[in-house]
Amino acid sequence: MAELGLRVIGTADVDAVQALIEADPGYTERITGYPPGAADAQSLLMMRPEGLAEEAKVVLGAFGGQGLVAVVDLLRGYPVDGTAFIGLLQIHAAQQGRGYGSTTYGLVEGYVESTWPEVRTMRLAVVDTNAEVAAGFWQRQGFEATGEARPYRYNKLESTARLYEKQLVE
Ligand SMILES: CC(C)(COP(=O)(O)OP(=O)(O)OC[C@H]1O[C@@H](n2cnc3c(N)ncnc32)[C@H](O)[C@@H]1OP(=O)(O)O)[C@@H](O)C(=O)NCCC(=O)NCCS
Repeated sequence: MAELGLRVIGTADVDAVQALIEADPGYTERITGYPPGAADAQSLLMMRPEGLAEEAKVVLGAFGGQGLVAVVDLLRGYPVDGTAFIGLLQIHAAQQGRGYGSTTYGLVEGYVESTWPEVRTMRLAVVDTNAEVAAGFWQRQGFEATGEARPYRYNKLESTARLYEKQLVE
């Protein structure tokens, strides 16, 4: 497994992010009911929860020898101060199952600890339609289900989103 380097990505990387999203149409279908759309990378870079400041959202890319291996959508202080919310962690389809997910998550924790020192809790949601792919992975990274469940709706797709958290140790 090649080493990965993590950095903040922006509009200059939009084509690489779009290619990563399109390489795994199954993921987008499981959480939206549709295959990827042409503007998905653009949306990922721009979209953030209502009321959250622009600078509280960062999209990170993990790069290896072959280019972009992983993309991570991260929110600071969401939904509460002291919590960082992972909106997405996606490994390029050609590189899944090789340890890059764990490596990328480790780099993300390092980023949060060094850049957002007030953060004590990592939080994310797993949609039931994607649980087979994601829940075991997140548990392996030390996350536990909080027991909170929210109705999840994306156009025609109706499912349930279940919240997971991990406490960061000092
Ligand atoms: C989920 C995802 C990020 C995992 O990344 P990955 O690179 O394939 O995972 P890794 O190879 O790093 O696996 C890390 C560990 O998790 C385990 N794991 C991975 N997927 C698993 C699953 N579905 N069920 C149980 N365990 C799983 C691996 O066995 C490995 O365990 P180990 O540390 O004992 O060897 C990747 O499949 C992906 O990008 N999927 C599409 C997007 C997505 O669903 N993202 C999560 C929702 S935000």
